Formats: sequence, structure tokens, C-alpha cells
Amino acid sequence: MNILQINSSARISGSQSSRLADRLVERLRAEHPEATLNVRDLARTPHPVLDEVALAALFMPAEQRSAEQAARVALDDALIAEIQAADALVLGVPMYNFGVPAQLKNWIDAIARVRVTFRYTEKGPEGLLTGKKVYVALTRGGQYRNTPADTQVPYLKTVLGFLGMKDVEFVYAEGLAMGPAAETAALESASAQIDALFGAELAEA
Ligand SMILES: Cc1cc2nc3c(=O)[nH]c(=O)nc-3n(C[C@H](O)[C@H](O)[C@H](O)COP(=O)(O)O)c2cc1C
Repeated sequence: MNILQINSSARISGSQSSRLADRLVERLRAEHPEATLNVRDLARTPHPVLDEVALAALFMPAEQRSAEQAARVALDDALIAEIQAADALVLGVPMYNFGVPAQLKNWIDAIARVRVTFRYTEKGPEGLLTGKKVYVALTRGGQYRNTPADTQVPYLKTVLGFLGMKDVEFVYAEGLAMGPAAETAALESASAQIDALFGAELAEA
């Protein structure tokens, strides 16, 4: 089993969403001791935005690309290869201004490639990244779960589903900016949600 962890916080250290993603990975590895882990931290290695150079390069036959265009496509190719190789995906996702971090959007723009990770048929679109289990650790300063202000969950369900990843579990840590008691309660709730997914951890002897 191959696990791919994507950290999308802008924080390299002290990120709550990356920490929760770490916890999910720990539990997955406890269930699958043979699993390999590939961590892509988008704060450490930011992915470039989908700009005109990238778009032009993507829609051009490979042999006609300039060195700059080929290098740009190669960056996206690397992310696509990582997700294709993964059996389980763990995303750490803070809420930034009611959406997903720009770095996560850049990652999604990189992995969504027609005829590679999705295609259109007479019956409509078909996702090609199938057979993968996805876990998403969501962290928020406020509390937006199940409200219209939570655009993250419907967006991620839609785009991951479009690419073929329909088995998605969300873990929420909300109210992290609402004072120490709310923060503690949010992290305890996230732990309980992880236990509900994996079973409670055995008490240490
Ligand atoms: C730039 C920025 C924008 C944020 N926007 C929101 C927001 O719209 N709603 C919210 O509930 N929290 C917001 N927060 C709070 C973060 O979601 C919260 O601190 C989260 O735990 C950060 O995760 P991290 O520690 O992994 O970076 C924002 C934080 C930052 C830095």
C-alpha cells in the first residue's frame, strides 16, 4: 500500500492541519505496517499557479514544447505520478478565507489532466484515479461544518469525485481560534472522529 500525504497549510512548522494529517497517516500505517509514505508539503515545495505558460504547454504536442514549457509540464507530471501510485491519500487542509489554500488549488489544477486523470465519454465525464481511499483533515478558526459557508467540503467532494476518488472521509477540527477551551474541544473532537474511522487506539500498557 502506498500513502500520499499532501500538506496544504502555508505553515511549514506548527500547522494544525498537517499535524492532523500526520495522525491519520499514523493510524493508516498502524493498520498497514508495510505501507510506504510519500509526503508532499506544499509550503516547502510550492507548486506554480496554472498560468499562460503552463496552459500553452499543456495543449501543445510534447515535441514542440520549449525547454521552459517542458520543465513546467514535468512539474505537473511528477504530481500526477505520485497520485497515480497512491492507494490512500491524506490531505491536510486549513480553511483560508472560506476556501481551500491556493496551494491546494494549484495541486488540484496540476493533477486534473484530460485523458490522464479524467476523460469525457458519450456518457459524460469519467474519473481515472479510481480505487483510492481519501482522508481529509480540515482545520478552521471558526465553525462552519454543514453550513453554506463551508465551500471546502462540497468542492473537494466534487473535484475528487470527478477524478474518480469517491471514497472520501472528512475529519474536522473547528473553532481553533475561539479560545483555549474551544481549541481543546476541537482537537478532542477530531481525535474522536479519527477513532471512529480507525477504531479507538489501545491504551498504552
Ligand atoms: C490567511 C488565513 C485565512 C483564514 N481564513 C479562515 C476562514 O475563512 N475561516 C476560518 O474558520 N478560519 C480561517 N483561518 C484560520 C485557519 O483556518 C486556522 O488557523 C487553521 O487551523 C490553520 O491551519 P494550519 O495550522 O494547518 O495552517 C484563516 C487563517 C489564515 C492564516
